[in-house]
Amino acid sequence: MPVSLQDDLHRELNALGEQNSLRTPHALQADTAPINFCSNDYLGFGASTQALQTTATTTTTRDQLSGQSSRLVSGNTATHRHAESELAKFANAQDARIFSSGYAANLGTLSAICTEGDVIYSDAHNHASIIDGCRLSKAHVEIYRHNNPGNLAQRLQSTRSTFRRALVVTDAVFSMDGDLAPLKELRTLCDTHNAALMVDEAHSIGVLGPNGSGLCAQVGVQADIRMLGLGKSFGLWGGAIVGSSHLCSMLEQKARSYIYSTATPPILPTHILRTLEQIKTANPQRAHVLERAGHIAQTLKSQGWNVLHHGTPILSVILGDNATTMEMSQALWNKGIFVQGIRPPTVPKGTSRLRIVPTASHTDDEIRALTSAFAACRKALVQ
Ligand SMILES: Cc1ncc(COP(=O)(O)O)c(C=O)c1O
Repeated sequence: MPVSLQDDLHRELNALGEQNSLRTPHALQADTAPINFCSNDYLGFGASTQALQTTATTTTTRDQLSGQSSRLVSGNTATHRHAESELAKFANAQDARIFSSGYAANLGTLSAICTEGDVIYSDAHNHASIIDGCRLSKAHVEIYRHNNPGNLAQRLQSTRSTFRRALVVTDAVFSMDGDLAPLKELRTLCDTHNAALMVDEAHSIGVLGPNGSGLCAQVGVQADIRMLGLGKSFGLWGGAIVGSSHLCSMLEQKARSYIYSTATPPILPTHILRTLEQIKTANPQRAHVLERAGHIAQTLKSQGWNVLHHGTPILSVILGDNATTMEMSQALWNKGIFVQGIRPPTVPKGTSRLRIVPTASHTDDEIRALTSAFAACRKALVQ
């Protein structure tokens, strides 16, 4: 039955509201914002108020903020190329390409390298940008059970031979649960079945591995394609794909989110180069963040919360339903603590949660404020 767009949007929004699923983000103001425990700025670089020297003076000129046109027209600068070459070196790869976001990087890459007649095996908990890239590729997609190499092996066994290219794709650190992909097992399966391996290192780059070089480096696995998120530990924005020079040349030919989008402004590669040096020497911050996450997880568990923690900076207090999750988030906000509620479809139904991320820039007092606020909420909840 034909409907009016405006009436139908209204109806749909009301339905989301009734399910406590409506998203209405807080508009943060630097001077009044509560202590933020839900950013992905793991090393605290993004929250730093330190003045940055970008040219001979500290001012940013307008041309540094303008991408001008796409990289393939006139937006390609020597600084972009320099940053890509340094990112590739850091990741022990031949080359890299910078996209305007991690989302654009995953979407553009998956749809550029796989198509009809190919098969993608994707972990059930992969990030939305991977899911959407798989869909856009038109390849046959097999969703294997989360972190379950046995299930992947069965699928490869029964379907791999009917397709041309095959790609296994996984997050390195899963964004919502903070658990790690079994990369060694995945690599072995890829080698056995002539499949390529793509690893999204959005939450692992800067945090795990030697000098923050990611989970692949930590476990000694060579992935064919890696996505390095630049909006998290780097404290910037964007995403880089690193891999072979053939791969990067092909992205330049076929990745539509790279080709048909204005280039990232030159100020981004300038800061990528600076931040790379900071990341390499941030071992104390990495250790600090991991130790803090462990401490918070222990404290909240001892208060009686259902806490998920897998030894990464991400931890979640599972509350189950949407209403309790959003009430708790508001109660914490009222106590000066910002922990956003995460609901379906971002996480599976029945696992709505408060996802907590300590960063290297939090003070000890701020960590105490977080655990005390949770303790007060617990008291109120069980009374
Ligand atoms: C695992 C993962 N991949 C990709 C992205 C997308 O990156 P971006 O925010 O830069 O678009 C995110 C988060 O946003 C993520 O968590």
